[in-house]
Amino acid sequence: MSYNLLKGKRGIITGVLNEQSIAWQVAKRAVEEGAEVLLTNTPMAIRFGTINQLAATINSPVVAADATSVSDLEHLVDTAMEHFGGQLDFVLHSIGMSPNIRKGIGYEALNYDFYAKTLDISAMSYHKLLQTLYKKDALSKGASVVALSYIAGDRAMRGYGDMADAKAMLQSITRNFGIIFAQEKGVRVNTVSQSPTMTTAGQGIEGMTEMIDTIDRISPLGNASATDCADYVITLFSDLTRKITMQTLYSDGGYSSVLPIS
Ligand code: NAI
Repeated sequence: MSYNLLKGKRGIITGVLNEQSIAWQVAKRAVEEGAEVLLTNTPMAIRFGTINQLAATINSPVVAADATSVSDLEHLVDTAMEHFGGQLDFVLHSIGMSPNIRKGIGYEALNYDFYAKTLDISAMSYHKLLQTLYKKDALSKGASVVALSYIAGDRAMRGYGDMADAKAMLQSITRNFGIIFAQEKGVRVNTVSQSPTMTTAGQGIEGMTEMIDTIDRISPLGNASATDCADYVITLFSDLTRKITMQTLYSDGGYSSVLPIS
């Protein structure tokens, strides 16, 4: 069902790898709500994923950019502004990867080159993206930027490894760039902390299937799906949440507010 919440708005969606990606659902819902979007991912993800399928159905350009590269991000933002003929109204950061987790290396044994990569890809890329948008004055007044986080950024959770540190940093960037964007440009910057979701990134976490089941049982409303998350992000892109900024907001069926014994 469409409410035309994003009618006339234009924005960038990062992180569409395949149909399971949370960003896939956000892009689809944004277009259903009247927005125009530009999709981006790394050259490798574009080649091996199915982003072009989605792009064809929602009539969106696809621009290759590695989010750890400032020059790629500059090219991305320039291309988006040229394509839309002006400033952007929303941006989704939906990017995460940990080489330590991929290789099964626990938090007590981190490889520090991999650790730096985790933080660069999963958190510093958010700062780089925000800094690029800021320098180019690429966001309209009232625009909204959202990044995706996880509860392990607030609470200790074995198995989430160095991604926990990346998510804590992502949430801190949300506050610290958020205040600058709010005061100087009237732009909102938030982080949505999503339930565990079976995506390509999610599958990398050891014991993910059991974890999803356990957390689903503990969450009073059950886990939020990728489409639930997308619906929430759409409200944050819309004008209905004009005064919400610098927050970590939970799309998690209430999980973050209960003790597991409840
Ligand atoms: P996904 O695997 O579909 O998306 C991750 C995306 O990051 C991929 O599209 C990948 O190509 C992209 N990416 C990796 N390195 C990149 C780089 N250097 N430059 C640009 N893009 C790059 O998985 P999912 O789950 O949709 O992940 C999206 C976001 O949601 C991530 O930030 C993830 O940490 C977060 N999240 C996921 C949860 C889950 O359980 N799946 C729960 C809470 C948050």
